[in-house]
Amino acid sequence: MPPFLVQSCILENATQIARNNIMAFWNDPNWVLMWGDKPKEYVITQAIRRSPWNLLQSPARNRHQKVVDGSTGDIVGYARWILPEYMDADSWIEAKIPRPNTKVFLSYLAVHPEHQHKGIATMLVQSGITAAKDLHLDIFVRASDAGLNMYRRAGFHMLDQIIQDDSKYGGNGKYGLHFLEIRIQ
Ligand SMILES: CC(C)(COP(=O)(O)OP(=O)(O)OC[C@H]1O[C@@H](n2cnc3c(N)ncnc32)[C@H](O)[C@@H]1OP(=O)(O)O)[C@@H](O)C(=O)NCCC(=O)NCCS
Repeated sequence: MPPFLVQSCILENATQIARNNIMAFWNDPNWVLMWGDKPKEYVITQAIRRSPWNLLQSPARNRHQKVVDGSTGDIVGYARWILPEYMDADSWIEAKIPRPNTKVFLSYLAVHPEHQHKGIATMLVQSGITAAKDLHLDIFVRASDAGLNMYRRAGFHMLDQIIQDDSKYGGNGKYGLHFLEIRIQ
């Protein structure tokens, strides 16, 4: 297995990140309903156009990480984390009383299908857990069925879950959304 490296992102990564993300979600039961009959390359092209904006928005709060395949240089995983709103106003954070009920939000996690089941998402999540420990913040995630086992293994516990009937939109009838957190503080 090639070495996979968790790294920070730069704007020039926008195209590869967009491609990785659409590939990762291409067969997700909920996103399939959104794609309709649009060809994959068309969806990727549109995502590439949005991607720089996604990377640049809310710079005070949004944090981005990629996983690079060390043997090819390809981006094979991506995570977006959102810090609580008050963080950007803070300097000298160590001296502040942590506010209750604020968490880091893991808002996006995607691994290229050719590199799934190699521990890449786990690497990104562990990296975020390390950062959250430094910030003394818990982490919240709204997980799909695909990520559930991985989050549980990383130490997240279930807060609530919703199983939606998506059959009326053409889905298979059971689309799970799972709300999990990991207590760090
Ligand atoms: C969900 C997702 C991010 C997981 O990414 P991943 O890199 O495959 O995750 P990991 O490899 O860290 O762990 C996932 C599985 O791989 C297994 N795995 C981890 N390391 C492995 C290795 N070296 N060899 C074989 N299997 C391995 C884990 O046991 C786990 O299996 P399980 O979930 O069936 O119990 C990925 O499937 C994805 O991008 N899906 C589409 C997008 C999506 O749903 N994102 C939202 C997640 S909330």
